[in-house]
Amino acid sequence: MALGAGIRDDFPLLSHTVGGKPLVYLDSAATSQKPRQVLEALSEHYRCCNANVHRGIYWLAEEATARYEEARANLASFFGAARSEEIVFTRGTTEALNLVAATWGRAHLGPGDEILLTEMEHHSNIVPWQMLAAERGAILKYVPVTGEGRLDLDAFDRLLAGRTKLVGLVHQSNVLGTINPVREIADRAHEAGALVVVDAAQSAPHQSVDVAALGADFLAFSGHKMLGPMGIGGLWARYALLDAMPPYHGGGEMITSVGLDRSTYKDPPHKFEAGTPNVADAIALGVAVDYMRQVGLEAISEHVHDLTAYALLRLKEVPGLVIYGPQTATDRGGAVSFTLDCVHPHDIAQVLDGEGIAVRAGHHCAEPLHRRFGIPASARASFHLYNTRAEVDALVEGLLKVRRLFARSSSAAKEDAHGAG
Ligand code: ALA
Repeated sequence: MALGAGIRDDFPLLSHTVGGKPLVYLDSAATSQKPRQVLEALSEHYRCCNANVHRGIYWLAEEATARYEEARANLASFFGAARSEEIVFTRGTTEALNLVAATWGRAHLGPGDEILLTEMEHHSNIVPWQMLAAERGAILKYVPVTGEGRLDLDAFDRLLAGRTKLVGLVHQSNVLGTINPVREIADRAHEAGALVVVDAAQSAPHQSVDVAALGADFLAFSGHKMLGPMGIGGLWARYALLDAMPPYHGGGEMITSVGLDRSTYKDPPHKFEAGTPNVADAIALGVAVDYMRQVGLEAISEHVHDLTAYALLRLKEVPGLVIYGPQTATDRGGAVSFTLDCVHPHDIAQVLDGEGIAVRAGHHCAEPLHRRFGIPASARASFHLYNTRAEVDALVEGLLKVRRLFARSSSAAKEDAHGAG
């Protein structure tokens, strides 16, 4: 299937115009657009199959339960899990990482134990560990990021100490686009006796992510970046780990029995899914995964790689533009963050919005990483299977316009200053 222009008819939102101009959506790292197959699955669920799951013994409830569990099995096979029960549905990556910190972390980390993260983590893989460290007296350490936006693996080896109990890292940076060598890092971490938690929020939407090949112990993902709905995602972990972990939330359907003083819990994954789960969105995420497989993970990776390489090349035509992260598309995903002379990233995003171009501006929930590069914020363009080279061209034209506008206003300001003098 031809990607880019050839697939856009599947994505109704992409035909919108903004102020009379075609929408150029370059913010898929924040959330992807959804194909009509996913939209239809959502509405079909509520029209045809809506009932609570794992509770009712009537036909409709059993149908809803079967579809919900099929979605879990689908996700398990997508990530190469050994069994379906290794997938716990959560609201997304953030909740999955909080689950690991609050359950495995609380059970295994004590005073002086070390958690080794990286400077390029999203806040969702920093803050839960800070909260845990404060509670348990554990110590946080960070693998530095090199000037070209890669992890400093020599420093990683030095930091990996006898007290490191957990290594947490992002598979693909949401700012730099860097794809980290998770397998190599996981092997070294395991040799040192540490477990590895991987944030796959940005990689799973664009490439094949196989938990066994990565050597991960825990892996978190978000459905809404994988062409699925918001509010659904998950955690993969080896069954034995999940089985040994205490539950996260307490409530209905995660128990085998409840007494007045204590309760006993179901086996994984159900002991981690208290209350009514997000059934429709889980089913629609299963459909999103089917859609990605039908298009082909390899084809999606190649398309995003081609757009990224093209963007890295064309953005060099914009004077004063600095790109953060690897300067070539090798080992790099489709998020390209940049600054432009003295123009604030919010101004860049606002002028581009006037051209119908949607990019993100700010610290992208990675404040320590921006501090590492000495900038408060950046603008970011990010690509998915539906983007085209023509949209990259539109971005470059838009940025040249930003430059012209701000060059004019800064020379006007200088003239005013001279006049005032
Ligand atoms: N984590 C998402 C982003 O990078 C929201 O934009």
